[in-house]
Amino acid sequence: MKENLEQLRAMALDALNHAHSSAELESLRVKFLGKKGEITAILRQMGSLSETERPIIGQLANEVRAVIEEAIADKVRQLEANNLSERLISEALDVTIPGKEFLIGRRHPMTIVLDEAKDIFIGMGFNIAEGPEVELSLYDFDKLNIPTTHPAREWTDTFYIEADESVHLRCQTSPVQVRVMENQKPPIRVISPGRVYRKDEVDASHSPMFHQIEGLVIDKGVTMADLKGTLNLLVHKLYGDKTKTRFRPHHFPFTEPSCEVDVQCVVCGGSGCRTCKQSGWLELLGAGVVHPKVLAGCGIDPEVYSGFAFGIGLERMTMLRYGIDDMRLLFENDLRFLSQF
Ligand code: DAH
Repeated sequence: MKENLEQLRAMALDALNHAHSSAELESLRVKFLGKKGEITAILRQMGSLSETERPIIGQLANEVRAVIEEAIADKVRQLEANNLSERLISEALDVTIPGKEFLIGRRHPMTIVLDEAKDIFIGMGFNIAEGPEVELSLYDFDKLNIPTTHPAREWTDTFYIEADESVHLRCQTSPVQVRVMENQKPPIRVISPGRVYRKDEVDASHSPMFHQIEGLVIDKGVTMADLKGTLNLLVHKLYGDKTKTRFRPHHFPFTEPSCEVDVQCVVCGGSGCRTCKQSGWLELLGAGVVHPKVLAGCGIDPEVYSGFAFGIGLERMTMLRYGIDDMRLLFENDLRFLSQF
């Protein structure tokens, strides 16, 4: 029995030496020290021993148990230490690796200028109105007094949606005027920014989609002088007090009289350059005194009320603001361009 115990000790220590996981350790512990384990099996045979042998073997058995327990505890500590150093290696952070670049967006230059324009108009008591981009020809043409023969109605100019030409992508923001006048009573003071669509080829100053800001003022006694004062104030706030404007006679079916408004070229200051085609002026908008037929068609009595309206090109307004000479830059979304604003 003494030999058995000593053999057992040697076997157990050897097996523990070769254990590599806590699961292995646990099964060895059960095998040697468990209730049905090897030491217990030997102790069961103690009954056959003599009185003198029994305490000696008993003590030896306790020693062997203690040695194996100690060896298991050692091994547990060793495995834990190994695990830790493996994790320290595999989960190591290299704090010297450069971080991921975090790009923060910013407002598009057209949004910046639109926000400024909105602030200026809101400061003059205007509200913001909205209208649909898919519009009825009734609002975009008929109620704006645009004759059936007008080139804007051609399939070559406008993106029609219905074959009977009753619905199309609006080619101007002016139909919002009609929608507002049909739904509000004077006094009216609104602007309406938004997208418009025309079958234009893309070049430095054209795109099939662009933006306008429509404006409409209706009240008693409103005249061309109010139109000039309002638009001059806008230009002075946007481009500086000294910026000159020029009101040129023009024709729009929905205004009478009508005009186009030019701003002194911001690139050359009026002396003539490539951007203004040597004229010293850049066209910014169309405007006029609302035609009595348009008022009457929207249920507003032209004998009592009058008003003015305008349509500003937002791309133009932005290009003038920053001296940008090619409209395509506003649509390409090249970060090298956009990050300058
Ligand atoms: N809708 C015109 C255009 O797209 C611009 C315009 C001119 C709007 C005169 C108006 C206006 O409201 O009164 O060319």
